[in-house]
Order: sequence, then C-alpha cells, then structure tokens
Amino acid sequence: MIEREYLKRTRKSFELYEIAKKYFAGGVNHNARFYRPYPLFFSKAVGKYVWDEDNNRYVDYWMGHTALILGHSPSFVVRALSNQLRRGTLYGMGSRKSVQLAELISKHVPCAEMMRFCNTGAEATMYATRLARAYTARKWVIKVEGGWHGYNTQLNKAVHHPFSGVEGSGILEEEQAYVDTIRFNDLHNSEKVIMRHRDEAALIILEPVLGAGGCIPAKKEYLKFLREISERYGIVLCFDEIITGFRLSLGGAQEYYCIKPDMATLGKIVGGGLPIGVVAGLKEIVSLADPVTRRENFVSIGGGTFSENPLSMIAGIETISYLERHRDLYERLSMLGEMARKGIDKAFEEYGVNAHTTGACSLFMTHFSEREPENATDSSLSNKEMQRLYGIHQICRSNFLLSAHPSAISVKHDYRDIRKLIDAAGEFALLIKKMGKEVATSSPSKVSGPHQTS
Ligand SMILES: Cc1ncc(COP(=O)(O)O)c(C=O)c1O
Repeated sequence: MIEREYLKRTRKSFELYEIAKKYFAGGVNHNARFYRPYPLFFSKAVGKYVWDEDNNRYVDYWMGHTALILGHSPSFVVRALSNQLRRGTLYGMGSRKSVQLAELISKHVPCAEMMRFCNTGAEATMYATRLARAYTARKWVIKVEGGWHGYNTQLNKAVHHPFSGVEGSGILEEEQAYVDTIRFNDLHNSEKVIMRHRDEAALIILEPVLGAGGCIPAKKEYLKFLREISERYGIVLCFDEIITGFRLSLGGAQEYYCIKPDMATLGKIVGGGLPIGVVAGLKEIVSLADPVTRRENFVSIGGGTFSENPLSMIAGIETISYLERHRDLYERLSMLGEMARKGIDKAFEEYGVNAHTTGACSLFMTHFSEREPENATDSSLSNKEMQRLYGIHQICRSNFLLSAHPSAISVKHDYRDIRKLIDAAGEFALLIKKMGKEVATSSPSKVSGPHQTS
C-alpha cells in the first residue's frame, strides 16, 4: 500500500531509473543512494527543498549526504561562486582562497594544526592511515565495526553486519591484513583488541557519531577511554569528522566532546556543497607529507588534480564564515534535532511501536527495535524492512530522507517542518498498527538494485 502510493507519485523517477540501470551498475553512482523499490531522481534543490522529476516538492533531510548545513544553494554562496566562475574554475595551483580556508579550519578545529586538501572523504581517510603508519612506524589500524570511512581499500572493512571478511570482491584480504575492529561504545571489547595490538597499532580511527552504522553518538567516557589508551601506547587517534565536522559545533566533535584527537578527517560541510576532503592533524604528523624536506619517513600523499580548486575553497570559506558569524544557530539546530528525536519516538510509542530515534545535535535516524541501539550490531539487527517502509512513507508525505542513513537538519528547517515529520511518523505508526504483521514482516519489493550500503 505504501509502495503503491510511491509508485503512483514518482512515475518519472521509475522511468529514469530503468534507463539509469543500463549505464550505472544498479542504476546508481553511490550505493547509499539506492533503496527499494527504486530511488528518486531530482531536478532542482533550493533552501530546504528538493524537487523530483515528477515535480513533487520535498522537505529535504538527506541534505546531500548531510553536507548542506545551510540548506541548498544559499544565495551568498551562489553569488560568490558566480563571481569566481568568471575568474576561473581550476588553477591547478594554490590561491589566497585555499590559505583562507585552511586558516578558518585551523582556527576552529582543535587538532588541525596542518592539513592537506583533497577531493573526497575517502581520500582523506586513506591519507590519514598512511600518515599514522609512517609517523608511528607501525602497521596496524583499528577501526570500529560498522564504521564508514569511504571507499578506500584499507578501511572498507567490517562495514556491514556481521562485520567479518572483506566488504566485496576486488579487495584482497592481504590489503586489509593489518586492520582490526573494535565495537563502538564497548569499552571492554575495545580494550581487549587495542591491548592485543598495543605495540604495533599505528592508528585508531572512528566517527564520534557513528554515521552509516546507525547515527549513534559515542558515549563521552568511550572517547575519553580511546584518548587515554591511544596516548598511553603511542597510537595516533583520528576522529573521522566528515559528518560531525562543523555540524556538532564549529570545532566539530572535538569541541563538542572536549576531546582532542591527534588527527581529523573532514569533508562535506567544509566544501560548502562542493567536493572536498581534508586530512588534518598535529604538525608533527601532517608535516611528514612535506615534499620539500622529504624526510626519511616522507609520506607520499596526494590531493589530486582538483584539490584546492577555487570553487570548493570559496564555497567552504563562505559557509564556515557564515557559521562563525551565527554561532547561535547550533543551539537552534540542536533544539530542532531534539524535537525530532523525542517527537518521533513519542509518536510511535502512542501506538505501541518500538522505535528509537538516535543521533546528536541536528542528526537523527529512526530504528525499529526493542532497545536503543548503542552500536552498529544493534542497528543492523533492528527491523530494517520496517525502517525502509517508514522512509517510503515519509517520502510520500513530502519529507525526503534515506531512512537507513542519518538525516540532517539545516538552518532552513523550522519547527513546522519537524512537526510535519513527527505527524507523518504518527501516521505511519497508525498504518502499521492497522495492517499489523503484514507490514512489519512483508518481504521487500521485487524491483532489483544493489544491497544497501554506506
Ligand atoms: C564519516 C565518513 N567518512 C568518510 C566518508 C567518505 O566521504 P566521501 O563520500 O566524500 O568519499 C563519509 C561519507 O559519507 C563519511 O560519512
């Protein structure tokens, strides 16, 4: 019934998807973008809204993989970009703008003494791994079960439940031979694994709010424990702040939790809606990439043809400068986030449906489970089919979100939007109550596509 409505409203997306499948594996260019029965195709995005090919308008909570904290195309960013377009799109060299963006990042992100710009988060986490290995002269990398650090070879491991083995063919076991995993928010398990590698671990890397693994915030004592144990054994601690950077606060999760890692990877918000990745950290680590001195343990990392392109630099500067001038927006965003998390759970509770909306500040995601998920296993074992149908229902009520991924609130959203989101959740609760088992246990629609991934 829910899917029937979706099919009726989004006919043109269905038709485009049929063509897209011919050219793109599974019809998509990012695995996260597929959901059953088929994903929407968008034609326009302004402020808090996106429009699909059928000209349906949605309040957007996906916000470009959470990258757009100011909403789509803020006018001052568009103006600055149009000016820059006339002055060149790619210098292939540094510019005043790249220096300015670096100054802004360094000013706010506590560990970011030095950095290298690249184009994606996947590159940034790959470089972080290389830098940490060179700095410590050790091999092992410790990541979190369900942790997502992009499609780079080493860290694309233990992303999906049951978190064992390689994520897909084409990645050799040998390439991930020195990567081990710990359970998020589990001190006991993490201590055991870290102690096993204490003399050979180069890096502990984690998202302070587990993103694709369930939008689950770290407990403060967990991050404190990781800080202490990594310091004790000379292991580099890297926060992957590609989602949390400039989202939880101006200084990201490091400021929010008051814990300073040795390195951080950034992306999304720092590019102001244009492609970017940043590997940042203490000078003694990042300076190993200095091609001028080429010290004995010189680290060859890139940046790429399009690194520090003036468009990404300008969009980033405009975005961060705005956030800096309007710091109080973080409080407002957190209030809206809290309203969404509490309101959605309450709406389900009223109909006796077990739902838990996790997240922090302006991030949220709803799980259908007995108890609130604390790690990626809990999230994976929740009722994923119910979560999928919930997402489709929200889309049919003009709220666009990918229900298996974190949703993000932007400065353009307001209380009325969140109220509508909550009302739609209540409506879904009523619907599944009425339909009972049929919805909760029905098998997914037959329209084919790749497995859901990060
Ligand atoms: C925490 C985290 N790390 C890394 C990445 C990879 O970034 P990109 O998609 O720009 O390669 C993502 C992307 O969603 C992410 O959420």
